[in-house]
Amino acid sequence: MTPTIQADAEQLAQAAADFITAQVRANPHLSILVATGNTPMPTYAELARRVEAGDVDFSRATAVQLDEYLGIEDDDPRSLWNWMRRSFVEPLGLTRTVRLHSPGQFGAAIRDLGGLDLAILGLGPNGHLGFNEPPSPPDAPTRTLALTPASLESNRAYWGVAVPAGAITAGMDVILAARQTLLLVSGAHKRGVLHAALRGPETPEVPASFLRRTALTVIADEAAWT
Ligand code: GLP
Repeated sequence: MTPTIQADAEQLAQAAADFITAQVRANPHLSILVATGNTPMPTYAELARRVEAGDVDFSRATAVQLDEYLGIEDDDPRSLWNWMRRSFVEPLGLTRTVRLHSPGQFGAAIRDLGGLDLAILGLGPNGHLGFNEPPSPPDAPTRTLALTPASLESNRAYWGVAVPAGAITAGMDVILAARQTLLLVSGAHKRGVLHAALRGPETPEVPASFLRRTALTVIADEAAWT
């Protein structure tokens, strides 16, 4: 599997928005697992522009939360739910959402949806997906877990203050069962881990390596691949 390479983060956003737009046009009831993190933000902004222009309609789609820190309130500025709401749910006009509160609640909600149609994912600097920290085998379930030092550090950068040591994540089993997966990767700091994910062995040490088992589209910028 070779990624589609775009010149820079802006071109990446255009290509990713094209892919997601085509999916929701083909299936207006698309159920979408939605990553936060920095990488997909220009893509979501581009989708919001297209919604504003009347080019695409997400009002019948469902947005599903990928991950969250433990022990924070909704009004905490670090809430990943709020980041997803501000960047994706509200600007794209979605009315249906599934939050990630507990493994049992989440599993039942995904079953009610009939599974996920599309998982939009970023790539953790240590190869994690959502908060499926290494090691995560492909059958790792939706669960709470302790963040690794690498993730505590990369996530601290989002907010300038420490993040909680615990998190809940959609399981590898949920992510890998999505009918389509879209991995977005930007920046030279992701180059090593992207090559490990696509060219190295499939291993729990690089959870993203299991995405090769799925109907996977990877869109990266030149800095992240060449
Ligand atoms: C974070 C999040 C992931 C995100 C990834 C990459 O820790 N838990 O959902 O996709 O790491 O983030 P970024 O796009 O900011 O590099």
